[in-house]
Formats: sequence, C-alpha cells, structure tokens
Amino acid sequence: MTQVFVRRLRLGAAFVLLTYLILHFANHALGIVSLEAMAVGRWWFLALWRSAPGTLALYGAITVHGLLALWLLYDRRTLRMPPWEATQYAIGLALPALLVVHVVSTRIAWWRFGVDDPYHRIVLGLSLQSPEFGARQTLTVVLAWLHACIGVHYWLRFRSWYPRARSWLFAVALLLPTLALLGFVAAGREVAALARTPGWTEAMLRAVHAPGPAEAARLLAIRRGFLDTYLIALVVVFIARGGRRLLERRRSIRIAYPNGRVVITPGGFTILEASRLAGIPHASVCGGRGRCSTCRVRIVGGLQGLSPPREAERRVLARVSAAPDVRLACQTRPAGDVAVEPLLAPSVVPAEAFGTDVRQGREQELAVLFADLRGFTRMAENKLPYDVVFFLNRYFEAVGTAITWAGGVTNQFTGDGVMALFGIDSGPATGSRQALAAARAMVERVNALSAELAGDLPTPLRIGIGIHAGPAVVGRMGWGESFYLTAVGDTVHVAARLEQATKDYAAELVVSEDVARHAALDLSHFPAHDLSVRNRAGKIAIRVIDRAANLPTL
Ligand code: FES
Repeated sequence: MTQVFVRRLRLGAAFVLLTYLILHFANHALGIVSLEAMAVGRWWFLALWRSAPGTLALYGAITVHGLLALWLLYDRRTLRMPPWEATQYAIGLALPALLVVHVVSTRIAWWRFGVDDPYHRIVLGLSLQSPEFGARQTLTVVLAWLHACIGVHYWLRFRSWYPRARSWLFAVALLLPTLALLGFVAAGREVAALARTPGWTEAMLRAVHAPGPAEAARLLAIRRGFLDTYLIALVVVFIARGGRRLLERRRSIRIAYPNGRVVITPGGFTILEASRLAGIPHASVCGGRGRCSTCRVRIVGGLQGLSPPREAERRVLARVSAAPDVRLACQTRPAGDVAVEPLLAPSVVPAEAFGTDVRQGREQELAVLFADLRGFTRMAENKLPYDVVFFLNRYFEAVGTAITWAGGVTNQFTGDGVMALFGIDSGPATGSRQALAAARAMVERVNALSAELAGDLPTPLRIGIGIHAGPAVVGRMGWGESFYLTAVGDTVHVAARLEQATKDYAAELVVSEDVARHAALDLSHFPAHDLSVRNRAGKIAIRVIDRAANLPTL
C-alpha cells in the first residue's frame, strides 16, 4: 500500500511540475504577440500559482519530487543504468542547483521583499543586463523540459494508444519550448527598444521595487544557503549509500542464472541490480520502476526464502497473469541464494511489455527432454517415507540444476520422472544442443549422487533420457497455485516414448534424428533405429547412445 501511495505521490508531483512548465512556456510564447500579451498571460499564471492552493501544490510538488529523487538515489544499490535513465538522473540532480538563481530572484524576492517580477524586468535582466544569466536560464529550461519529456515518454510508452500519439506528442514537445524561446527573444527586442528611452529603465526598476544592496545580499545568502543544503543532502545520501554497502557486504548472496552464470552480490540488491552489476543483459523497459513487467523472472530455486511481493508488484504481476513463481526482478531483493530465469528477451520492446509472450500460449519449435530413474519404484519399497523424500529431493536437485545450467526449463517432476523444455526463447537449434548438454550433465550429476549415497543404495543409480525436437504448443497452463509453463503436442509425446525406449535398448540416452539435425551434430557412429510411436503414423528415426558421456563435445 505504501509503495502504491508513494508511486502515486511521485506521479502527482511530476504532473504538477509538468503543468507548471507547460503554462510557463505558454506564457513565454505570448511574447511572439507582444510584451503586453505576456503581461496578461502572467496575470493569470500568477493568479493560479501564487494563490494559496497553487503555492501549496507547486512547492509541495517540488519538495516531494526532490525528496523522492534523493530517496531513490539512496535506495538503488548500483548506479549502473541505461543511458536514458542516467541522463534523466543527471539532469534531475543538476536542476535544483540551476533553478535556484531564478527562483530566488523572482518568487523569493517577491515573497520576502515585495520585489515585483514582471516580464520586462526579467527580460531586461536576462537578455540585456546579464546575457550570461540568460544563456544559463535558457539551458536550464531546456534541461527541465528534457527531464520532463523523458519522464513522460517512459511513463506512457506502455499505453496502447501511445505509439499512435507519439509523433504528435513529439511535435508538441519540440514546438512548445521553441515558441517559448521565440517569445522571449521577441520580448527582448521590445524591452531593448523601451530601454533606449531615457529614464525608462530607472523608472521601471523603481516601480518593481528592485532589491537594493542589502536585499540583494540577503537574497544571495538565501541562494547560497539553499545550494549548501542541497550539496550536504547529496553528500549525506552518498555517505549513507557507502555505509549501507559496508553493512550489506557482510552477507553476500548468490543469484544463479541460466547457462550456469552465478552472480554474487551484497545482500539488499534487487535481482535486476544484480544483473546490471554483472553486465547480464536483462529487460527493463521502465528502468526498474516496477511498471512494465518486462524484467520478470521465474524463480527456479530459493522461492520459499523470498518475502512475498508487495502490493505494487502484485498488481503488475496480476496484469500479466504471472505464475506464483514469477517475480519482478526490479522489485525483488533476495535475502538468500536464488536461481532465476529471465522470462523476456533483453531486447523486448515496450509494446510487448504487457502483451502475450510465448509463455501465454504459442506454437513453436523446441526440444523436449524426458528423464526417468531406473528401478526407483522397487528401491522405494524398502525405504522409509522420510528417506524416499530425502532421496527424491537430492535427485531432483541434481537433474534440475543440470537442466537449468544448460539453459532449459524444468517443467514437471512426477514421481521420479522429469520433463524439461529447451529453446523456448532461442529456437530448436540452440534448444537441441542445450538438451544434449543437459543430458550429459544430468548423467554426471546422478552418477556423483550415486557415489555419494552408495552406502544406502542397493544398486548404483541409472537414468534414462529421451530427447526429441519439433513443434509444440507452449504456454502457462494449470489452475490456481499449480500454474506453470509447459508444452503439449506430438513432440512431447514422442520425447516421452524415447525415454521409455532407453529401457529396451539398455541405454542412457535415446534421441531422435531431428535433435541431431537441429544440433548440427554428427551422431552417425551411434546405432540407428526406427521406432514406432503409438497413435502416430510412420516411424521415428532415432540414435541410441549407450552412455551420455560418449556424446561428441558440444
Ligand atoms: S523493469 Fe519494469 S517492472 Fe521491472
């Protein structure tokens, strides 16, 4: 709830500041008409923003936006971020220091000393008396606008209507500051003409109660006081980040990725921050703000150690109908070791953020692996239930880690059987190679487990593996808590049949010729057979591999 509230507060503050900026630019743009038109616009502008509610909204928004920016700077564990996000951050941090001069000489001067700030005074000061301040002010408004535009773009880019409206919005984003600057330049010309009238400048400065030396010194002190406070706040944030880093370094956690990549981070990092720290490409269309869902990962190990998702994360996950083992990488801070599997390609585009991905149901080609432990039923008959569960969990750990290591997705653990999918994101060629690599690793790990438990086992453990590649319907299926990624279709059926055939041939591995073809692997030195499969016309060409260790190196 708090998280949702903070997000709304931040959005509300940003909206107020954006409105202020747009109206300010619109007021400047009236200078194209005349200085007089600018003055009329300014009257309405001040009626809004210098009223009590307007003041509260504006300065409340500045305070909220600023404090939340400092908090976010503290909260994020790594400063590695995409260029657009870094640009927005850098501009956002520079703006308070750039804006303070203008704010103090207008609003604060008016509030503390009754100094009026009509356009002709400001235009005279910025364009004629101190053009260097004028140049800086121009840069400041351009940066403020850029900061706002980046924010709006990354806020709206998931909306379905946004791609259609983007070019219009882009035109407005270019036009508005351009018109504002043109208006200011036109007003500068008018004021320059007025200033050539003898005594006009002095009379105008008297009329607006321009600050005298004492008041100017006081305003300068206020400006310096603000800059010092802001600088101290930034230093405190960085000191706090350093202190936390030292504390969190004491407990490091391991985050395992597919293909055996393991990242060790200090505790407190989100999974996305860990990916960024390690340079692992990870989709994050909204920049880690918990809005887009593209960073979502399946937690394939250590799920029980994670704290449950908070309200904001739950909402985003619900929007994509995420399975219970799926989390937003940018919102999940593991307290212990986890194994994760990113679900979207790093190159995902915003339009796909909440759309359907392969996991929502699609026919595609991939490799399917089935494995079964030989003689397990007989072995389990002579064991206590506790021993059976202990043994099965060790077995599943051995084969599951081998599958994940190779890049596959463990799909079903039924009895002592395992089904795994390979190539969901990468296609059947990579999937077939991954499945063969997984088969070899599975056998190695089961052999290691067998050696470790030799004293408790009547016979060494043996595993049979069948692999087939072809088209299948892949998607998240199930109901309630039992909702997981799986595949159905003939390819799955054939893979299961090949696993059964390992018993007939007394081999560790039976693969279809389709797998060898997709993997571009020469298996011609292994015996070839044709296998019939129930309810299927024609036979399947297979290769029988007695020992997975004999597979050619992949
Ligand atoms: S990066 Fe957008 S929700 Fe995580």
